[in-house]
Amino acid sequence: MKPGLYALYAQLADGRLHNGAELAGEMDITRAAVWKRMQSLREMGLAITGTAGDGYRLEHAVELLDADEIRSRLSSGDVEVETAGAVDSTNARLVEAGSPHARAVVAEAQTAGRGRRGRGWQSPPGSGLYLSLAWRFESGLAGLAPLSLVVGLTAAETLGKQAGAAVAVKWPNDLFVDDAKLGGCLVEINGAAEGPCRAVVGVGINLFRTEAMGPIDQAWTTLEDHARPQGRNALAAAVLDAMTQSLTAFDRAGLEAFMARWDAVDALRGRRVTILQHGQAPTDAIATGIDEQGRLRLSENGHTRVLASGEVSIRVA
Ligand code: BTN
Repeated sequence: MKPGLYALYAQLADGRLHNGAELAGEMDITRAAVWKRMQSLREMGLAITGTAGDGYRLEHAVELLDADEIRSRLSSGDVEVETAGAVDSTNARLVEAGSPHARAVVAEAQTAGRGRRGRGWQSPPGSGLYLSLAWRFESGLAGLAPLSLVVGLTAAETLGKQAGAAVAVKWPNDLFVDDAKLGGCLVEINGAAEGPCRAVVGVGINLFRTEAMGPIDQAWTTLEDHARPQGRNALAAAVLDAMTQSLTAFDRAGLEAFMARWDAVDALRGRRVTILQHGQAPTDAIATGIDEQGRLRLSENGHTRVLASGEVSIRVA
């Protein structure tokens, strides 16, 4: 987000009515320039109501991200936090920079948010939490296969503790409330089979509904619908704090330490699911939990089989 656009976004963030002339005065620009910036913010998906005559206001107030506040809420001083207006993708920012261990980026908006399996992630300004954390693991690529489950599990637990939302994880790491998608996680890993690897762990959470969200091919929901009101800085800090603890524990001891915790948030266990695999006809099975490598266990006509994430897409039947 250009500084001028961010300045207007910051003026509007309180959700109150702002007169065009006042805004122009506060930012020392013409009213025509205010109108132009307003259009640009609308194009980015910010829901602004009103006109120059009546004044402008955000449909939903936004707590602006503040790196100092996030940092002050973290229990470890080792995490470097950067906040940004709009970035293409917080994950891409860290992947491309080959970022050092424990650097986090949290953005107001993403213009090319990345989802799993090559999909996008809609990220209008302020209405979601978009954060990524770069982490260096001592274990090689092979040991990192279950990492995406640990990330989803940690995000779900944090939303429960911090916001009181009953969030379940649909294997491998979709965040669900009552069968509607609340958020998702994207883990991107670079490294060799043996030796240290770098991972970028991204979490996206829908915070409130906005008309800017285009069609989404499945039921979705927002934290506002299921949780106590949350400041975005407190939420970002809680997720980052929990994530650093989980990633440290996972690097030391693998998935084992998380098996019982997974069971507590598993959205699929005991449910009939449809398995969609590229080039194959959909099949149904009963999900029965995960194995020690984080693969999904399925019972199909009395036979048990396992699936690795990345191979498949799972829908509750
Ligand atoms: C999914 O498809 O369910 C995963 C969505 C992950 C979205 C988050 S938002 C922050 C981070 N940056 C991205 O570009 N993607 C992840």
